Amino acid sequence: MAFNKIWCTVALGLLLPVSYAHTDFFTSIGHMTDLLNTEKDLVVSLKDYIKAEESKLEQIKKWAEKLDQLTDTATKDPEGFLGHPVNAFKLMKRLNTEWGELENLVLKDMSDGFISNMTIQRQFFPNDEDQTGAAKALLRLQDTYNLDTDTLSRGNLPGVKHKSFLTAEDCFELGKIAYTEADYYHTELWMEQALKQLDEGEVSSADKVYILDYLSYAVYQQGDLAKAMMLTKRLLELDPEHQRANGNMKYFEYIMAKEKEANKSGTDTEDQVEKETEVKKKDYLPERRKYEMLCRGEGLKMTPRRQKRLFCRYYDGNRNPRYILGPVKQEDEWDKPRIVRFLDIISDEEIETVKELAKPRLSRATVHDPETGKLTTAHYRVSKSAWLSGYESPVVSRINTRIQDLTGLDVSTAEELQVANYGVGGQYEPHFDFGRKDEPDAFKELGTGNRIATWLFYMSDVSAGGATVFPEVGASVWPKKGTAVFWYNLFPSGEGDYSTRHAACPVLVGNKWVSNKWLHERGQEFRRPCTLSELE
Ligand code: OGA
Ligand code: FE2
Repeated sequence: MAFNKIWCTVALGLLLPVSYAHTDFFTSIGHMTDLLNTEKDLVVSLKDYIKAEESKLEQIKKWAEKLDQLTDTATKDPEGFLGHPVNAFKLMKRLNTEWGELENLVLKDMSDGFISNMTIQRQFFPNDEDQTGAAKALLRLQDTYNLDTDTLSRGNLPGVKHKSFLTAEDCFELGKIAYTEADYYHTELWMEQALKQLDEGEVSSADKVYILDYLSYAVYQQGDLAKAMMLTKRLLELDPEHQRANGNMKYFEYIMAKEKEANKSGTDTEDQVEKETEVKKKDYLPERRKYEMLCRGEGLKMTPRRQKRLFCRYYDGNRNPRYILGPVKQEDEWDKPRIVRFLDIISDEEIETVKELAKPRLSRATVHDPETGKLTTAHYRVSKSAWLSGYESPVVSRINTRIQDLTGLDVSTAEELQVANYGVGGQYEPHFDFGRKDEPDAFKELGTGNRIATWLFYMSDVSAGGATVFPEVGASVWPKKGTAVFWYNLFPSGEGDYSTRHAACPVLVGNKWVSNKWLHERGQEFRRPCTLSELE
């Protein structure tokens, strides 16, 4: 039974396109769910192998016990024993055929089924790139959400259902990945965490000497010579013969002595270090700081005075016949740019349908390369997405009509409905939805003008993280299942509204589903007449 199940999965696996094998698993929960199922099937297969091996050993054991008794009695009185013709016959039979059969049994490979499953499934396993990607996602989350290394390692995250912790070895692995990226800041944090967990008595195969070797180097790279020396000393206590550490120690002492001399003669090396860190700080874009603060729910920029002018109301789509009797709930999220949220605007059933339609088509989301105008994948947009047409399902068509009714904008010139799924660490860094003047016209082929407005459905709640933030104006919009937000990207003049720059914050815990509709300029000439000035 269990094997049948495995073979079904295996057969399915073979039918999948080859490109499926390595498509950045960490970017969406959907594909990682498949991996969990694969792993579950492999465990079943492994258990079947164990059972087969156990029953084989059981047979061998029985044979050994039987023969043990027999040879015991026989050797006590060999002549008397063999005097019985049946015993003589049985001895011939045993030695001529039965021991041979037993030999075959001992040699029989019970691992066939498991190994072939493993070989086939391995093609669909994540590779080094996926593992590094997942590790980098963890480091990114650590920075964005100001998570302390110990908190992250103990799995004390807000909103988690399945608490999970990192072993000293896991921490060491993360440190090593940071190290290969020349990211000594995170190398230090994670090597220190690994060491801490070992010092607290965690049983592990991680080796303190190795950890200290990486740690002292990372500390040295960041300019803390005294600490690097202290760590190297600690390493040498554990392994006095360590060649590199002995060499480094001599080098550190030499540098230290030189620095002391330089200090005496007035050359200020500390100034140098300070200048360098200042440069580094400047490199760190202020927008990134704002973006990360907003993601954490800090740095919101709305005075109480302005807040008082945000309202909620029942909205009938400007006397749209479909909504006069049953208006929808609308809330102001922000004033400038105006962002409104519609509540209970998509039902759970509709969400399920949209997700099911999108799931088999999800692939890594792309962006327009501003230089070539072509579509490419980018580290700043980590999610999987798919496009749904109104023709393929009455649900999608109904959703499109709803957007038209409530925005008053023509959806026939809009792009198809885009469905996106962000896994843990999935994000979309600050961007504009509209095309800028200095770019090759990304929407030229469409012939429908620029993206006049954005409609964004939240199709899931997110346990932690995953807000949509507007760093220019300091706004954060939190995902809430069944709601949608809407804003204009262009002024009535057709000029882009730069205050609409926005981002999707990395998902910290859980899984985020959204879908959006980008409405275009064509078709809105009478619905939203253009003006000559931006301010109108
Ligand atoms: C987008 C976008 C925001 C979000 O897809 O263009 O900005 O919260 N998404 O997913
Ligand atoms: Fe966007």
